[in-house]
Amino acid sequence: MVKQAKMSEEQQCQDGYTYRIRRMEPHDIHAVMMLDRLVFSDPWPESAYTQEIYFNPLACYFVLEFTQAMPHRRWPWKPRNNTLIGFAGMRIEQTRGHISTLAIHQDWRGMGFGELLLITALQQTMAMKASAVMLEVRPTNTPARNLYAKYRFIPIGRHTRYYQDGEDALLLEVPHLDADYAQQLAEYRQLVEKRIQERLSTQDPLSS
Ligand SMILES: CC(C)(COP(=O)(O)OP(=O)(O)OC[C@H]1O[C@@H](n2cnc3c(N)ncnc32)[C@H](O)[C@@H]1OP(=O)(O)O)[C@@H](O)C(=O)NCCC(=O)NCCS
Repeated sequence: MVKQAKMSEEQQCQDGYTYRIRRMEPHDIHAVMMLDRLVFSDPWPESAYTQEIYFNPLACYFVLEFTQAMPHRRWPWKPRNNTLIGFAGMRIEQTRGHISTLAIHQDWRGMGFGELLLITALQQTMAMKASAVMLEVRPTNTPARNLYAKYRFIPIGRHTRYYQDGEDALLLEVPHLDADYAQQLAEYRQLVEKRIQERLSTQDPLSS
């Protein structure tokens, strides 16, 4: 039985915004793939999600969704449905965690959601007793590299021509997942949740 890290409580903000992070379910795969295609030039095939969710007991995937009416002009036809705006995944490989994916819809970037999903994946990695965690990132991906640097990822290598367009991948790692790191994750989580609440409260969703 895989131990479950804390996920976000449903967060109720002013003006009816409510969001939560929960485990990705098979019925989410379609929406996740749509977002994956919007965000990445080399999105995963459905089989990759199916493999991870159905057949890999050492993998955990998360989605971030709004759970109430979203008065956003990009989704006026779906006012009452849940709206998935981000996802993240991790798996354990031997004793090391691997953050396998992370994405936020472009309309909702810069508010703390990417950080909150990364914290969730890192806390899950620690709950599953990994001693270290790694990931791949494009050298040109400044937002992601800054985010990972904030969480003490350091460069440990490079995969040549890793991505389909020929760009290399940098390998980043947090070499020691210890009590101090867990404490930092918990503190950052509180700060990020507060920041998101504040930003959602002041955001005019119809102006973006
Ligand atoms: C990377 C990504 C997930 C960040 O999500 P986000 O919700 O926009 O990021 P947050 O608002 O949580 O920001 C967290 C940190 O990321 C960094 N960051 C985010 N956006 C940034 C930007 N435009 N420029 C520089 N740094 C940025 C900062 O360090 C920031 O911390 P700070 O607010 O204390 O400065 C998002 O940009 C994304 O989905 N990008 C496309 C997919 C991708 O590249 N995924 C990673 C693959 S390895």
